[in-house]
Amino acid sequence: MSERVAVYPGSFDPATVGHEDMIRRAAAMFDRLIVAVLHNPSKRGFFPVEARVRMLEKITADLPNVTVDRWDGLLVDYVKKEGACAVVRGLRQVSDFETEMTMAQVNSRLLPGLETVFLMTKPEQCCVSSSVVRELAAFGGDVREFVPACIAEDVRGGV
Ligand code: PNS
Repeated sequence: MSERVAVYPGSFDPATVGHEDMIRRAAAMFDRLIVAVLHNPSKRGFFPVEARVRMLEKITADLPNVTVDRWDGLLVDYVKKEGACAVVRGLRQVSDFETEMTMAQVNSRLLPGLETVFLMTKPEQCCVSSSVVRELAAFGGDVREFVPACIAEDVRGGV
């Protein structure tokens, strides 16, 4: 049977404990998981993309079937290039659902057969987001509860 590859795309600006949990759970579901830093046209970047990739590499260093990459174009083009069969996305709350459903439907129109697999965020991580972390970091707040320990210093220092 062919290898089942999934892509977990996002801005990861920066990655949070919620993202790490998604990565670990998705890595257990597929033969290979690619965490891909993509551009979200509706968000202005805070951390440089190279720094986001470096932080994700630290977070996933112990996961042999996970790689980190970046891509500047459409998600479906990346999925095609990598021969992936699924996209993984996390759902934190009902308000995420509308945008995520649209994105999944558009992506499946652009690339018929592409599945989007949604994983529910752990209840205790529903309030965790990259924007919360950025705001805490910008005002000198404590980010340690919200980001994986191995990148806490990077986030605090603004990389
Ligand atoms: O972490 P985010 O910001 O919610 O991730 C959104 C992201 C980057 C996955 C999304 O904006 C995206 O796929 N960007 C690439 C451009 C693309 O393919 N857009 C079509 C989707 S409707």
